Amino acid sequence: MNWWKSLKGKVKQAEPLKNHTTFRIGGPARFFIEPSDPQDLKLLLGFAKKYNLPVFIIGSGSNLLVNDKGINGVVIRLGAPYFNRLSCKGSYLNAGSGVPLGKVIFFAREHGLSGAEFLAGIPGTVGGALAMNAGTVSRKTGARSIQDLVKEVTVMDYSGNIMTLQKKDIKFGYRKSSLSKYIILGANIKLAKADRGKITQRIKEYMGYRKSSQDLSRPSAGCVFKNPAGDSAGRLIDLCGLKGKRVGCACVSLKHANFILNLGRGRAADVIKLMKFVSRKVSAKFNISLTPEIRIWQN
Ligand code: EPU
Repeated sequence: MNWWKSLKGKVKQAEPLKNHTTFRIGGPARFFIEPSDPQDLKLLLGFAKKYNLPVFIIGSGSNLLVNDKGINGVVIRLGAPYFNRLSCKGSYLNAGSGVPLGKVIFFAREHGLSGAEFLAGIPGTVGGALAMNAGTVSRKTGARSIQDLVKEVTVMDYSGNIMTLQKKDIKFGYRKSSLSKYIILGANIKLAKADRGKITQRIKEYMGYRKSSQDLSRPSAGCVFKNPAGDSAGRLIDLCGLKGKRVGCACVSLKHANFILNLGRGRAADVIKLMKFVSRKVSAKFNISLTPEIRIWQN
């Protein structure tokens, strides 16, 4: 039975995931599906369970390394219009989980709402950013992450039940949250009224810092490792003299040592080898064990 034909959303088979990750790496997904709305998503989850297909959720693919063989399962992207809605009421902003963070920031600015500027330049979606509690560290403002803005988040569990979780019901940590065990459908975030000119200025500052310190010249997944407490993984890798270190087409950036770049035909296997090499060197020199920030999909 062609179960996928009863879905309303878009279905692709053998879809190369390298076209959906900022690393430009990843083999094909057996099914790549964009459900049209929560009912369609629930139907899809039921089929996946029935046919024993593992389910993976992809946002903008910006913090993700997909193995070279691909995914023998269902990759779901919440790209349909239902999951891309944006609205605001007073100083609250409601966003579907598929909305890119950049859109949230500019929509907020148009409505004179401030608070989300620190997310400028982070290439994720609302769902991805919440699942991993995306954020920034700045000398001026210290560490900030999306948890600071959350009021409530609507999620679906893998049995298709929809719930709205209040902030107090959600556990956030450094680049992780308890939301990652659900499929995030949308969120309500709290901002504050402010002058549009000032908001624009702050967005420019965050973007400027990112452009000056990070390597955006080649495909990558941003910072590869989490920062160890009180330090920066990039600084430690740099002190090991690893900038420019290559395995195949995977290369430690010359500009920011916590970035691994895909120089062209990068393979996940090369990135993983390079990550292991970097971890071993940092551990030998500083006795600090680095943990990946990026998600690695291998099934
Ligand atoms: N540094 C070096 N060499 C390098 C890289 C950094 O010496 O090759 C030094 C810098 O000079 C600075 C310190 O390390 O003194 C920290 O560097 P940076 O300001 O670039 O911040 P980071 O800790 O490397 C974190 C986040 C970034 C976020 C920036 C800016 C993590 C793992 N990284 O980077 O997030 O954009 O702060 O707010 O939390 C990401 O999550 O993918 C990401 C890039």
